[in-house]
Amino acid sequence: MTVSEIFETMDYGTAPESAAEALAWIVDQGGKFGHFIDGEMTAAGTPFETRNPATGDVLATLTQGTQADVDAAVKAARRAQPKWEAAGGPARAKVLYALARLLQKHSRLFAVLESLDNGKPIREARDIDIPQAQRHFYFHAGMAQLMPSELPDAQALGVCGQVIPWNFPLLMLAWKIAPALAMGNTVVLKPAEYTSLTAMLFADICGQAGVPKGVVNIVTGDGAVGEMVVSADVDKVAFTGSTAVGRRIREATAGSGKALTLELGGKSPYIVFDDADIDSAVEGLVDAIWFNQGQVCCAGSRLLVHEPVADLFHTKLRARMDKLRVGSPLDKSIDVGAIVDPKQHETISALVSANTAGETYVADCAIPETGSFYPPTLITDLQPADTLMQEEIFGPVLVSSTFRTPAEAVSIANNTRYGLAATIWSENVNLALDIAPKLVAGIVWINGTNMMDAAAGFGGVRESGFGREGGWEGLSAYTKSKAPQKQVKPIAPMTGSGAPSDGIDRTAKLYIGGKQARPDSGYSAQVWAKNGVLLGHAPQASRKDVRNAVEAAHAAKGWSKTTGHLRAQILYFIAENLTARAEEFAHRLDQMQGGKTGAKEVEAAVQSLFTYAAWADKYDGQVHGVPIRGVAMAMKEPVGVIGALCSAAAPLAGLVGAMAPAIAMGNRVILSASEPFPLAATDFSQVLETSDVPAGVVNILTGPQGDVADAMARHMDIDAVWSFGDPDLDQVVEAGSASNLKRTWVQNGKAIDWATPPAKTFLSQATEIKNIWVPYGE
Ligand code: NAI
Repeated sequence: MTVSEIFETMDYGTAPESAAEALAWIVDQGGKFGHFIDGEMTAAGTPFETRNPATGDVLATLTQGTQADVDAAVKAARRAQPKWEAAGGPARAKVLYALARLLQKHSRLFAVLESLDNGKPIREARDIDIPQAQRHFYFHAGMAQLMPSELPDAQALGVCGQVIPWNFPLLMLAWKIAPALAMGNTVVLKPAEYTSLTAMLFADICGQAGVPKGVVNIVTGDGAVGEMVVSADVDKVAFTGSTAVGRRIREATAGSGKALTLELGGKSPYIVFDDADIDSAVEGLVDAIWFNQGQVCCAGSRLLVHEPVADLFHTKLRARMDKLRVGSPLDKSIDVGAIVDPKQHETISALVSANTAGETYVADCAIPETGSFYPPTLITDLQPADTLMQEEIFGPVLVSSTFRTPAEAVSIANNTRYGLAATIWSENVNLALDIAPKLVAGIVWINGTNMMDAAAGFGGVRESGFGREGGWEGLSAYTKSKAPQKQVKPIAPMTGSGAPSDGIDRTAKLYIGGKQARPDSGYSAQVWAKNGVLLGHAPQASRKDVRNAVEAAHAAKGWSKTTGHLRAQILYFIAENLTARAEEFAHRLDQMQGGKTGAKEVEAAVQSLFTYAAWADKYDGQVHGVPIRGVAMAMKEPVGVIGALCSAAAPLAGLVGAMAPAIAMGNRVILSASEPFPLAATDFSQVLETSDVPAGVVNILTGPQGDVADAMARHMDIDAVWSFGDPDLDQVVEAGSASNLKRTWVQNGKAIDWATPPAKTFLSQATEIKNIWVPYGE
């Protein structure tokens, strides 16, 4: 036999990892688990089984949580929270560091247990899940240490309810628990029902690490228990899982004052250009879609190949698929393990068998006859609108289509309701870096894929959810400002009778697409001065006007591509023109409000224009040094079109204070002006008209905010809604936003001081972070 023949026939031998210690640990625990509440394991209750998906064997029984369990856990977390926060960042850092060390010490046990419970290859659990979980605790130990000096204005939110999925059980636990604890919060976490064992082992090490009682609580069970956690007396809900459940949670928490972050599904494009290193790009796909059996929210599940190389690429890909080794997850030479549960297997099979489009190729590799295994599958020649190009399969099934030009690649890539991640494969750095900003995604990988790190925020846009986990930005989801805030007071409009004092009837208009526009309703309302004199009429905007404003804002998308320098110039120019009319505005404000604060309010508006003009070219991103070859560039991008319900009490400063940060960062805005005092806004549109603000960048509506709030929240082409208005509208905004899972920012009844607004908070609300991973250095 020649050497080349040996190479031809040589196969990997099996390299099984022993399950003995993990199984012994389960037996040690009695084979059945209760919850982890207030530092103790509770007695096991109503049981449900957790199985090894590779064999179908029962591993242990877990307890289905009850309302009483969730209440007890929340109570314990509430009791423990003040002391945990008061202990200070450095004290918390020690505990987080101890957790990281213990995870490291027991990493083999964690990895085997994870592989048994979830079905993922031991190689992945050992080399990715567990080390990444450790890294999260190390990284956030550092964040706890730095909190007093770097985040002096931040404090904990309180108790966090966290619901996690089954695809990265321990890693998702780490992503949730590490930042929460670092910032002084306590947690009640519900692991996924299929995969709770590593959470139980984590509970076991919490005591050893010195985590005080009640700081970490873990309640097991199904979605019903998740619902209980979401509706419990918690200050924040953090969820990772399906978009459908995320949407339900958005609705359930609307108007509750609870902070919310959602990390949801994806259908991430994997774009291969004709100048790519084809073999690397094929190998990349193994990590993109066959990593964790494709059960990855950011999986590169939608292959887009440049037409000239499509045939070659698919041929090489099929050949590579045939070499994938599917089998026992505990075998160290396995590439693809078991699907988490037969139910998920059924979902994948049903989606694939319902498909009649394209050409399906199933890898020619051996599949175990028993257990929840699904063969690596490729479906080529799909059209962008085909179901499988749009729906998340969450299994080892890759769908593929081709493109002709870079522009077409971008348009197909963005043609989905999701926006989590994207991969670009090209040897041309100019091309890759030209495409990266055009992709609607929270993460872009260039010539690599599925890379994650605690230092680089992870999260998406559109229906992939909102909020980031990891990095500095991830911390804002677990903190609030220490600055005291007053409560918003309801303000009634002035009333009066009779004609205007100068006999001239003034009917203001809406400001849409750079033009004064009549309201679609055809109605206007009288606006009275404090002394009962008629000041004018304000148009009553309705849903149709919101739609027109959205259209105008979308037509002005070029604004997002302008430079910070240019936007600063325009903001300064608005300030200059407002200053020239300062007296007139001050008088108008005093007339409407019947006070003497008009001049001060105009000054506050001018100041905010100057402040955000100053920031327009300075609120830069970061470059993260990640422990993988390359760097992650955290770019701050505009959110898109933002609807804002402006403050009633500060008709000018509140309007300008919302507009300026939004447009400074490249967004277009639709402002719903102060309902009781709308005329400062209609006057302000004249200032905009003379200040070189391109048509559609700022749109101003007057009239009742209720209808406008609902229309904005439900509009599919508005990317975020801010509410500084009536606190009753918080619920309307948050519930309506479930439509396209847009970002919302409500004040929960707290008033903003428009003379000294929290500029950095505004800027972070006005931007979306996109982490672009690029090869760099050796
Ligand atoms: P799921 O979203 O139902 O489960 C995730 C977690 O949410 C689990 O802990 C579950 O118990 C909990 N949960 C379920 N219903 C809940 C509710 N009403 N309120 C609060 N918590 C609730 O995901 P599932 O059904 O296991 O998987 C279905 C599909 O979801 C998958 O095929 C995949 O497309 C997607 N998925 C996405 C994940 C991601 O990381 N983006 C992770 C898991 C699933």
